[in-house]
Amino acid sequence: MSKNAEAALGELFAAAKAAQANAYAPYSRFHVGAALRTPDGAVFSGCNVENAAYPQGACAEAGAISAMALAGARQIAEILVVGDGEALCTPCGGCRQRIREFAGPSAAIHVAGPEGVRATFTLAELLPESFGPEHLAR
Ligand code: THU
Repeated sequence: MSKNAEAALGELFAAAKAAQANAYAPYSRFHVGAALRTPDGAVFSGCNVENAAYPQGACAEAGAISAMALAGARQIAEILVVGDGEALCTPCGGCRQRIREFAGPSAAIHVAGPEGVRATFTLAELLPESFGPEHLAR
């Protein structure tokens, strides 16, 4: 990886870690942070926010995407998710589809633990043959 790409990924990791620190997860106690970058270099982050009515909880990725949309941005170049524990904290099925709305098939999805990035996938790897906005084009 080039020095620039390494620094950019480091910035995304730091933003996701900072978001994770604000996660509201009193029920699962599983704190997640996410940070995404748009093609022009802007970074948006989010954390999971749970709810006493469990299904109303929101994932970290959803928060980062909301922040991006609020700023008027509409394209995800890459996204990083950080969670604790041994297992890879890959985005849930619903969040893969949320990412799909704003990302192309080759967009990178980085999965990190507290120590750093553990694995990188493309969106197409995590959500093959997916349905997206272009399917609705008339
Ligand atoms: N969670 C996320 O925020 N993102 C993921 O990629 C995986 C799971 C959250 C949802 C819930 O608040 C907690 O982690 C346990 O599932």
